Amino acid sequence: MTATASESTRHLGPPPDQTLLDPAERLSVDELRALQLERLQWTLRHAYDNVPHYRQAFDAAGVHPDDCRELADLARFPTTSKADLRDNYPFGMFAVPQDQVRRVHASSGTTGRPTVVGYTQRDLDTWATVMARSIRAAGGRPGDVLHNAYGYGLFTGGLGAHYGAEKLGCTVIPVSGGMTPRQVQLITDFQPRVIMVTPSYMLTVIDEFEKQGLDPRASSLEIGIFGAEPWTEQMRREMEERAGIHAVDIYGLSEVMGPGVAQECVETKDGLHVWEDHFYPEVIDPLTGEVLPEGEQGELVFTSLTKEAMPVIRYRTRDLTRLLPGTARPGMRRMEKITGRTDDMIILRGVNLFPTQIEEIVLRTAGLSPHFALELTTRGRMDHLTCRVEARPDCPADRRPSAAAEVAKAVKDTIGTSIEVLVVDPETLARSMGKLKRIYDNRDRA
Ligand code: DLL
Repeated sequence: MTATASESTRHLGPPPDQTLLDPAERLSVDELRALQLERLQWTLRHAYDNVPHYRQAFDAAGVHPDDCRELADLARFPTTSKADLRDNYPFGMFAVPQDQVRRVHASSGTTGRPTVVGYTQRDLDTWATVMARSIRAAGGRPGDVLHNAYGYGLFTGGLGAHYGAEKLGCTVIPVSGGMTPRQVQLITDFQPRVIMVTPSYMLTVIDEFEKQGLDPRASSLEIGIFGAEPWTEQMRREMEERAGIHAVDIYGLSEVMGPGVAQECVETKDGLHVWEDHFYPEVIDPLTGEVLPEGEQGELVFTSLTKEAMPVIRYRTRDLTRLLPGTARPGMRRMEKITGRTDDMIILRGVNLFPTQIEEIVLRTAGLSPHFALELTTRGRMDHLTCRVEARPDCPADRRPSAAAEVAKAVKDTIGTSIEVLVVDPETLARSMGKLKRIYDNRDRA
Protein backbone atom coordinates (compact mmCIF):
# COMPACT_ATOMS: atom_id res chain seq x y z
CA MET A 1 0.00 0.00 0.00
CA THR A 2 1.37 3.41 -0.82
CA ALA A 3 1.37 5.95 1.98
CA THR A 4 -0.30 9.31 1.42
CA ALA A 5 1.80 12.46 1.55
CA SER A 6 0.48 13.44 4.96
CA GLU A 7 1.34 10.04 6.43
CA SER A 8 4.82 10.12 5.02
CA THR A 9 5.74 13.75 5.59
CA ARG A 10 7.57 13.93 8.86
CA HIS A 11 6.24 15.93 11.73
CA LEU A 12 7.36 19.54 11.73
CA GLY A 13 6.66 20.26 15.37
CA PRO A 14 4.62 23.20 16.62
CA PRO A 15 4.33 26.40 14.56
CA PRO A 16 7.19 28.84 15.14
CA ASP A 17 7.36 30.40 18.56
CA GLN A 18 6.32 34.05 18.00
CA THR A 19 9.35 35.22 19.95
CA LEU A 20 11.59 33.64 17.29
CA LEU A 21 10.25 35.99 14.61
CA ASP A 22 11.96 39.23 13.62
CA PRO A 23 10.19 42.21 15.19
CA ALA A 24 9.16 43.31 11.67
CA GLU A 25 7.27 40.04 11.17
CA ARG A 26 5.06 40.95 14.12
CA LEU A 27 4.18 44.52 13.07
CA SER A 28 0.56 45.44 12.50
CA VAL A 29 -0.42 46.74 9.06
CA ASP A 30 -0.53 50.32 10.38
CA GLU A 31 2.88 50.08 12.03
CA LEU A 32 4.31 48.60 8.85
CA ARG A 33 2.82 51.33 6.62
CA ALA A 34 4.39 54.04 8.81
CA LEU A 35 7.78 52.34 8.62
CA GLN A 36 7.44 51.90 4.84
CA LEU A 37 6.62 55.56 4.27
CA GLU A 38 9.63 56.73 6.22
CA ARG A 39 11.91 54.30 4.36
CA LEU A 40 10.36 55.11 0.98
CA GLN A 41 10.97 58.83 1.44
CA TRP A 42 14.61 58.10 2.30
CA THR A 43 14.98 55.80 -0.72
CA LEU A 44 13.51 58.30 -3.21
CA ARG A 45 15.84 61.00 -1.95
CA HIS A 46 18.85 58.69 -1.95
CA ALA A 47 18.14 57.60 -5.55
CA TYR A 48 17.47 61.15 -6.76
CA ASP A 49 20.58 62.60 -5.13
CA ASN A 50 23.02 59.87 -6.17
CA VAL A 51 21.90 58.18 -9.40
CA PRO A 52 21.79 60.36 -12.54
CA HIS A 53 19.29 58.00 -14.17
CA TYR A 54 16.73 58.55 -11.40
CA ARG A 55 17.28 62.31 -11.28
CA GLN A 56 16.63 62.54 -15.04
CA ALA A 57 13.66 60.16 -14.95
CA PHE A 58 12.00 61.97 -12.00
CA ASP A 59 12.63 65.38 -13.58
CA ALA A 60 11.22 64.22 -16.92
CA ALA A 61 8.08 62.96 -15.14
CA GLY A 62 7.80 66.22 -13.19
CA VAL A 63 8.09 64.58 -9.77
CA HIS A 64 10.44 65.22 -6.87
CA PRO A 65 11.12 63.06 -3.76
CA ASP A 66 9.38 65.75 -1.66
CA ASP A 67 6.14 64.94 -3.53
CA CYS A 68 5.92 61.60 -1.73
CA ARG A 69 3.79 62.38 1.33
CA GLU A 70 1.93 59.08 1.51
CA LEU A 71 2.56 55.61 0.11
CA ALA A 72 -0.02 56.08 -2.68
CA ASP A 73 2.13 58.93 -4.04
CA LEU A 74 4.63 56.34 -5.23
CA ALA A 75 2.34 55.70 -8.22
CA ARG A 76 3.31 59.15 -9.55
CA PHE A 77 6.94 58.14 -9.92
CA PRO A 78 8.26 56.53 -13.12
CA THR A 79 8.85 52.79 -13.32
CA THR A 80 12.28 51.29 -13.96
CA SER A 81 12.92 48.47 -16.43
CA LYS A 82 15.67 46.00 -17.21
CA ALA A 83 16.55 48.20 -20.21
CA ASP A 84 17.37 51.08 -17.82
CA LEU A 85 19.80 48.80 -15.98
CA ARG A 86 21.36 47.65 -19.25
CA ASP A 87 21.72 51.24 -20.47
CA ASN A 88 23.67 52.04 -17.31
CA TYR A 89 25.90 48.97 -17.54
CA PRO A 90 27.90 48.11 -15.54
CA PHE A 91 27.80 50.35 -12.43
CA GLY A 92 25.74 53.38 -13.50
CA MET A 93 22.80 52.57 -11.21
CA PHE A 94 24.95 52.47 -8.09
CA ALA A 95 24.21 55.16 -5.50
CA VAL A 96 27.37 54.85 -3.41
CA PRO A 97 31.09 55.23 -4.26
CA GLN A 98 32.70 52.04 -5.49
CA ASP A 99 34.77 51.57 -2.32
CA GLN A 100 31.54 51.07 -0.37
CA VAL A 101 30.37 48.27 -2.69
CA ARG A 102 31.28 44.96 -1.07
CA ARG A 103 29.95 42.61 -3.74
CA VAL A 104 28.39 42.50 -7.18
CA HIS A 105 26.16 39.88 -8.76
CA ALA A 106 24.90 39.70 -12.33
CA SER A 107 22.13 37.94 -14.18
CA SER A 108 23.33 35.89 -17.12
CA GLY A 109 21.01 37.60 -19.60
CA THR A 110 20.24 35.37 -22.54
CA THR A 111 20.34 38.39 -24.81
CA GLY A 112 22.61 41.40 -24.63
CA ARG A 113 24.54 42.61 -21.63
CA PRO A 114 24.12 41.09 -18.20
CA THR A 115 22.34 43.07 -15.52
CA VAL A 116 24.75 44.04 -12.75
CA VAL A 117 23.71 44.67 -9.15
CA GLY A 118 25.73 45.81 -6.12
CA TYR A 119 25.56 45.59 -2.33
CA THR A 120 27.08 47.54 0.56
CA GLN A 121 27.95 45.69 3.75
CA ARG A 122 24.63 46.79 5.22
CA ASP A 123 22.79 45.51 2.12
CA LEU A 124 24.49 42.14 2.53
CA ASP A 125 23.43 42.07 6.20
CA THR A 126 19.84 42.92 5.22
CA TRP A 127 19.88 40.17 2.59
CA ALA A 128 21.16 37.59 5.07
CA THR A 129 18.45 38.71 7.52
CA VAL A 130 15.58 38.29 5.04
CA MET A 131 17.02 34.99 3.83
CA ALA A 132 17.33 33.70 7.41
CA ARG A 133 13.73 34.78 7.95
CA SER A 134 12.70 32.94 4.77
CA ILE A 135 14.38 29.68 5.79
CA ARG A 136 12.76 29.90 9.22
CA ALA A 137 9.34 30.56 7.66
CA ALA A 138 9.92 27.45 5.53
CA GLY A 139 10.42 25.42 8.70
CA GLY A 140 14.23 25.54 8.97
CA ARG A 141 15.72 25.98 12.45
CA PRO A 142 19.12 26.82 13.94
CA GLY A 143 21.21 23.66 14.04
CA ASP A 144 19.69 22.19 10.85
CA VAL A 145 22.01 20.81 8.20
CA LEU A 146 21.10 22.56 4.92
CA HIS A 147 22.08 21.27 1.47
CA ASN A 148 22.40 24.29 -0.84
CA ALA A 149 22.23 23.26 -4.50
CA TYR A 150 21.52 26.72 -5.89
CA GLY A 151 24.35 27.78 -8.19
CA TYR A 152 27.21 29.71 -6.58
CA GLY A 153 28.80 32.58 -8.51
CA LEU A 154 27.32 35.62 -10.17
CA PHE A 155 23.80 34.11 -9.79
CA THR A 156 22.31 35.31 -6.49
CA GLY A 157 20.83 31.92 -5.54
CA GLY A 158 23.89 30.19 -4.08
CA LEU A 159 25.48 32.94 -2.00
CA GLY A 160 22.12 34.46 -1.05
CA ALA A 161 20.89 31.20 0.46
CA HIS A 162 24.33 30.49 1.94
CA TYR A 163 24.67 33.60 4.10
CA GLY A 164 21.02 33.48 5.17
CA ALA A 165 21.38 29.87 6.32
CA GLU A 166 24.56 30.71 8.24
CA LYS A 167 22.84 33.68 9.84
CA LEU A 168 19.97 31.48 10.99
CA GLY A 169 22.49 29.12 12.54
CA CYS A 170 22.36 26.23 10.09
CA THR A 171 25.26 24.02 8.98
CA VAL A 172 25.54 24.80 5.27
CA ILE A 173 26.66 22.27 2.67
CA PRO A 174 27.64 24.56 -0.25
CA VAL A 175 27.23 22.01 -3.04
CA SER A 176 26.04 24.33 -5.85
CA GLY A 177 24.31 22.79 -8.90
CA GLY A 178 25.42 19.88 -11.05
CA MET A 179 27.17 16.52 -10.56
CA THR A 180 23.86 14.91 -9.70
CA PRO A 181 25.15 11.51 -8.46
CA ARG A 182 27.31 13.39 -5.96
CA GLN A 183 24.29 15.39 -4.76
CA VAL A 184 22.60 12.11 -3.88
CA GLN A 185 25.72 10.81 -2.17
CA LEU A 186 26.11 13.95 -0.05
CA ILE A 187 22.44 13.94 0.96
CA THR A 188 22.78 10.30 1.96
CA ASP A 189 26.03 10.82 3.89
CA PHE A 190 25.54 14.27 5.50
CA GLN A 191 21.85 13.81 6.40
CA PRO A 192 20.58 17.35 5.69
CA ARG A 193 17.09 18.26 6.93
CA VAL A 194 16.65 21.14 4.43
CA ILE A 195 17.42 21.37 0.72
CA MET A 196 17.49 24.60 -1.31
CA VAL A 197 17.43 24.14 -5.09
CA THR A 198 15.39 25.01 -8.17
CA PRO A 199 12.28 22.81 -8.46
CA SER A 200 13.39 21.52 -11.87
CA TYR A 201 16.76 20.43 -10.50
CA MET A 202 15.08 18.83 -7.47
CA LEU A 203 13.23 16.59 -9.93
CA THR A 204 16.55 15.61 -11.47
CA VAL A 205 17.90 14.78 -7.99
CA ILE A 206 14.78 12.73 -7.10
CA ASP A 207 15.13 10.80 -10.39
CA GLU A 208 18.79 10.12 -9.56
CA PHE A 209 17.87 8.66 -6.16
CA GLU A 210 15.50 6.26 -7.90
CA LYS A 211 18.05 5.44 -10.58
CA GLN A 212 20.51 4.42 -7.88
CA GLY A 213 17.85 2.16 -6.36
CA LEU A 214 17.43 4.45 -3.33
CA ASP A 215 14.07 5.60 -1.97
CA PRO A 216 14.10 9.42 -1.81
CA ARG A 217 11.35 9.26 0.85
CA ALA A 218 13.74 7.45 3.13
CA SER A 219 16.31 10.28 2.96
CA SER A 220 16.86 12.71 5.84
CA LEU A 221 15.26 15.59 3.91
CA GLU A 222 12.15 17.11 5.46
CA ILE A 223 11.93 20.54 3.80
CA GLY A 224 12.61 21.78 0.27
CA ILE A 225 12.82 25.53 -0.45
CA PHE A 226 12.25 25.87 -4.18
CA GLY A 227 12.37 28.96 -6.38
CA ALA A 228 14.11 30.91 -9.17
CA GLU A 229 11.54 29.65 -11.71
CA PRO A 230 7.77 29.13 -11.81
CA TRP A 231 6.32 25.87 -10.48
CA THR A 232 2.76 24.75 -9.86
CA GLU A 233 0.68 23.18 -7.07
CA GLN A 234 0.75 19.95 -9.08
CA MET A 235 4.55 20.07 -8.99
CA ARG A 236 4.42 20.64 -5.22
CA ARG A 237 2.34 17.46 -4.83
CA GLU A 238 4.71 15.51 -7.09
CA MET A 239 7.78 16.51 -5.09
CA GLU A 240 6.15 16.14 -1.67
CA GLU A 241 4.92 12.65 -2.50
CA ARG A 242 8.02 11.37 -4.21
CA ALA A 243 10.53 12.82 -1.71
CA GLY A 244 8.42 12.81 1.50
CA ILE A 245 9.13 16.49 2.16
CA HIS A 246 7.36 19.79 2.64
CA ALA A 247 7.88 21.82 -0.56
CA VAL A 248 7.68 25.60 -0.14
CA ASP A 249 8.16 28.47 -2.54
CA ILE A 250 10.84 31.19 -2.34
CA TYR A 251 10.88 34.22 -4.64
CA GLY A 252 13.35 36.93 -5.44
CA LEU A 253 15.23 38.64 -8.22
CA SER A 254 18.73 40.06 -8.45
CA GLU A 255 17.63 43.60 -9.27
CA VAL A 256 15.65 43.81 -6.03
CA MET A 257 18.08 41.75 -3.85
CA GLY A 258 18.19 38.07 -4.82
CA PRO A 259 16.30 35.19 -3.17
CA GLY A 260 14.42 36.15 -0.01
CA VAL A 261 12.16 38.95 -1.28
CA ALA A 262 9.11 36.79 -0.52
CA GLN A 263 8.66 33.39 1.10
CA GLU A 264 5.90 30.89 1.62
CA CYS A 265 5.27 29.82 5.23
CA VAL A 266 5.26 26.06 5.72
CA GLU A 267 2.29 26.09 8.08
CA THR A 268 -0.03 27.60 5.46
CA LYS A 269 1.56 26.98 2.01
CA ASP A 270 -0.77 29.61 0.60
CA GLY A 271 1.43 31.95 -1.41
CA LEU A 272 4.48 33.98 -0.47
CA HIS A 273 4.67 36.64 2.22
CA VAL A 274 6.52 39.66 0.86
CA TRP A 275 9.09 40.95 3.37
CA GLU A 276 7.51 44.35 3.14
CA ASP A 277 9.75 46.08 5.64
CA HIS A 278 12.43 45.98 2.91
CA PHE A 279 10.55 45.59 -0.39
CA TYR A 280 7.41 47.53 -1.31
CA PRO A 281 5.20 45.65 -3.80
CA GLU A 282 2.70 47.01 -6.32
CA VAL A 283 0.81 45.19 -9.07
CA ILE A 284 0.22 47.14 -12.27
CA ASP A 285 -1.60 46.61 -15.52
CA PRO A 286 1.33 45.69 -17.81
CA LEU A 287 -0.19 47.58 -20.74
CA THR A 288 -1.37 50.84 -19.15
CA GLY A 289 0.93 50.94 -16.13
CA GLU A 290 -2.03 51.67 -13.86
CA VAL A 291 -1.76 50.39 -10.27
CA LEU A 292 -4.28 47.59 -9.70
CA PRO A 293 -6.20 46.99 -6.47
CA GLU A 294 -5.28 44.14 -4.13
CA GLY A 295 -6.52 40.81 -5.52
CA GLU A 296 -6.21 41.72 -9.20
CA GLN A 297 -3.69 40.01 -11.41
CA GLY A 298 -0.98 41.96 -13.19
CA GLU A 299 2.74 42.66 -13.29
CA LEU A 300 4.61 42.76 -10.01
CA VAL A 301 6.62 45.94 -9.36
CA PHE A 302 9.04 46.44 -6.47
CA THR A 303 10.60 49.44 -4.76
CA SER A 304 13.47 48.74 -2.38
CA LEU A 305 13.08 50.45 0.99
CA THR A 306 16.49 50.07 2.62
CA LYS A 307 18.99 49.30 -0.15
CA GLU A 308 22.04 51.55 -0.17
CA ALA A 309 24.25 50.46 -3.09
CA MET A 310 21.52 50.07 -5.70
CA PRO A 311 18.10 51.37 -4.75
CA VAL A 312 15.39 50.37 -7.23
CA ILE A 313 12.32 52.52 -7.77
CA ARG A 314 9.22 50.77 -9.12
CA TYR A 315 11.19 48.02 -10.83
CA ARG A 316 9.06 46.11 -13.35
CA THR A 317 9.70 42.42 -12.69
CA ARG A 318 7.66 41.11 -15.68
CA ASP A 319 6.33 38.47 -13.25
CA LEU A 320 2.58 37.98 -13.17
CA THR A 321 0.75 37.53 -9.88
CA ARG A 322 -1.66 39.24 -7.49
CA LEU A 323 -1.38 40.57 -3.95
CA LEU A 324 -3.44 39.10 -1.13
CA PRO A 325 -3.74 39.90 2.58
CA GLY A 326 -1.28 38.27 5.00
CA THR A 327 -2.13 35.03 6.82
CA ALA A 328 0.74 33.39 8.73
CA ARG A 329 2.34 36.86 9.03
CA PRO A 330 -0.81 39.01 9.21
CA GLY A 331 0.96 42.37 8.72
CA MET A 332 2.67 41.42 5.44
CA ARG A 333 0.87 40.92 2.16
CA ARG A 334 1.19 37.69 0.21
CA MET A 335 1.82 37.30 -3.50
CA GLU A 336 0.16 34.38 -5.20
CA LYS A 337 2.42 31.74 -6.73
CA ILE A 338 3.71 33.20 -10.00
CA THR A 339 1.81 32.12 -13.10
CA GLY A 340 4.62 33.11 -15.43
CA ARG A 341 6.64 35.96 -16.83
CA THR A 342 5.34 38.26 -19.52
CA ASP A 343 8.47 37.11 -21.46
CA ASP A 344 7.44 33.45 -21.24
CA MET A 345 3.92 34.00 -22.45
CA ILE A 346 3.40 32.19 -25.73
CA ILE A 347 0.86 33.78 -28.04
CA LEU A 348 -0.31 30.93 -30.19
CA ARG A 349 -2.70 31.95 -32.95
CA GLY A 350 -4.04 34.71 -30.74
CA VAL A 351 -4.35 32.64 -27.54
CA ASN A 352 -2.12 33.37 -24.54
CA LEU A 353 -0.49 30.35 -22.97
CA PHE A 354 2.01 29.87 -20.13
CA PRO A 355 4.24 26.84 -19.58
CA THR A 356 2.77 26.49 -16.05
CA GLN A 357 -0.63 25.76 -17.61
CA ILE A 358 0.90 22.88 -19.55
CA GLU A 359 2.72 21.71 -16.40
CA GLU A 360 -0.58 21.41 -14.54
CA ILE A 361 -2.13 19.34 -17.31
CA VAL A 362 0.89 17.06 -17.84
CA LEU A 363 1.16 16.33 -14.13
CA ARG A 364 -2.42 15.23 -13.78
CA THR A 365 -2.18 12.86 -16.76
CA ALA A 366 -1.48 9.25 -15.78
CA GLY A 367 1.74 7.82 -17.20
CA LEU A 368 3.45 11.16 -17.85
CA SER A 369 6.51 12.48 -16.02
CA PRO A 370 7.02 16.18 -15.14
CA HIS A 371 9.77 16.48 -17.74
CA PHE A 372 8.49 18.36 -20.77
CA ALA A 373 9.76 20.91 -23.30
CA LEU A 374 7.90 23.25 -25.63
CA GLU A 375 9.06 23.99 -29.15
CA LEU A 376 7.64 26.71 -31.35
CA THR A 377 8.01 26.28 -35.12
CA THR A 378 6.42 27.69 -38.26
CA ARG A 379 4.15 25.44 -40.36
CA GLY A 380 2.91 27.12 -43.50
CA ARG A 381 2.36 30.62 -42.22
CA MET A 382 1.14 29.49 -38.82
CA ASP A 383 2.88 29.14 -35.48
CA HIS A 384 2.94 25.58 -34.25
CA LEU A 385 3.59 24.38 -30.70
CA THR A 386 4.96 20.93 -29.97
CA CYS A 387 5.04 19.66 -26.41
CA ARG A 388 7.44 16.77 -25.90
CA VAL A 389 6.84 15.03 -22.62
CA GLU A 390 8.66 12.02 -21.18
CA ALA A 391 6.69 8.93 -20.21
CA ARG A 392 7.23 7.76 -16.64
CA PRO A 393 9.52 4.71 -16.58
CA ASP A 394 6.60 2.44 -15.60
CA CYS A 395 4.23 3.77 -18.28
CA PRO A 396 3.16 0.93 -20.60
CA ALA A 397 3.98 1.59 -24.28
CA ASP A 398 0.33 1.31 -25.30
CA ARG A 399 -0.65 4.06 -22.84
CA ARG A 400 1.48 6.69 -24.57
CA PRO A 401 -0.83 7.63 -27.49
CA SER A 402 -3.85 8.03 -25.20
CA ALA A 403 -1.84 10.10 -22.71
CA ALA A 404 -0.73 12.40 -25.55
CA ALA A 405 -4.31 12.73 -26.76
CA GLU A 406 -5.53 13.55 -23.23
CA VAL A 407 -3.02 16.39 -22.87
CA ALA A 408 -3.86 17.83 -26.30
CA LYS A 409 -7.57 17.68 -25.49
CA ALA A 410 -7.15 19.29 -22.07
CA VAL A 411 -5.11 22.12 -23.63
CA LYS A 412 -7.79 22.63 -26.27
CA ASP A 413 -10.61 22.54 -23.68
CA THR A 414 -9.04 24.71 -20.98
CA ILE A 415 -6.72 27.06 -22.87
CA GLY A 416 -8.50 27.05 -26.20
CA THR A 417 -5.74 26.26 -28.67
CA SER A 418 -4.43 23.20 -30.50
CA ILE A 419 -0.96 21.87 -29.79
CA GLU A 420 0.88 18.73 -30.82
CA VAL A 421 1.85 16.41 -27.97
CA LEU A 422 4.54 13.76 -28.34
CA VAL A 423 5.23 11.31 -25.53
CA VAL A 424 8.91 10.42 -25.67
CA ASP A 425 11.13 7.88 -23.86
CA PRO A 426 12.24 8.58 -20.27
CA GLU A 427 15.60 10.37 -19.95
CA THR A 428 15.57 11.85 -23.45
CA LEU A 429 14.89 15.55 -22.75
CA ALA A 430 17.54 17.97 -21.45
CA ARG A 431 17.77 18.17 -17.66
CA SER A 432 18.20 21.38 -15.71
CA MET A 433 21.11 22.01 -13.34
CA GLY A 434 19.60 25.34 -12.25
CA LYS A 435 16.93 27.33 -14.02
CA LEU A 436 15.21 25.21 -16.62
CA LYS A 437 14.80 26.30 -20.24
CA ARG A 438 11.23 25.29 -21.10
CA ILE A 439 10.63 27.04 -24.42
CA TYR A 440 12.62 26.56 -27.61
CA ASP A 441 11.60 29.14 -30.20
CA ASN A 442 12.54 27.84 -33.65
CA ARG A 443 10.06 29.90 -35.65
CA ASP A 444 11.11 31.28 -39.04
CA ARG A 445 12.04 34.90 -38.74
CA ALA A 446 10.49 36.98 -41.52
O1 DLL B 1 16.27 33.72 -9.52
C1 DLL B 1 16.78 34.72 -7.39
C2 DLL B 1 16.37 33.46 -6.70
C3 DLL B 1 17.29 32.49 -6.46
C4 DLL B 1 15.06 33.28 -6.28
C5 DLL B 1 16.94 31.35 -5.78
C6 DLL B 1 14.69 32.16 -5.60
C7 DLL B 1 15.63 31.18 -5.36
P1 DLL B 1 17.20 36.14 -11.02
O2 DLL B 1 18.18 35.20 -11.63
O3 DLL B 1 17.45 37.59 -11.11
O4 DLL B 1 17.07 35.85 -9.48
O5 DLL B 1 15.80 35.80 -11.65
C8 DLL B 1 14.64 36.43 -11.17
O6 DLL B 1 13.29 34.46 -11.60
O7 DLL B 1 11.89 37.71 -11.92
C9 DLL B 1 11.15 35.39 -11.74
O8 DLL B 1 10.82 35.48 -13.11
C10 DLL B 1 11.92 34.11 -11.51
N1 DLL B 1 11.63 33.59 -10.17
C11 DLL B 1 12.36 33.70 -9.06
N2 DLL B 1 11.75 33.06 -8.03
C12 DLL B 1 10.59 32.55 -8.52
C13 DLL B 1 9.51 31.80 -7.97
C14 DLL B 1 16.67 34.67 -8.89
N3 DLL B 1 9.50 31.39 -6.71
C15 DLL B 1 13.42 35.86 -11.87
N4 DLL B 1 8.47 31.50 -8.79
C16 DLL B 1 12.15 36.46 -11.34
C17 DLL B 1 8.46 31.89 -10.07
C18 DLL B 1 10.50 32.91 -9.89
N5 DLL B 1 9.45 32.58 -10.65
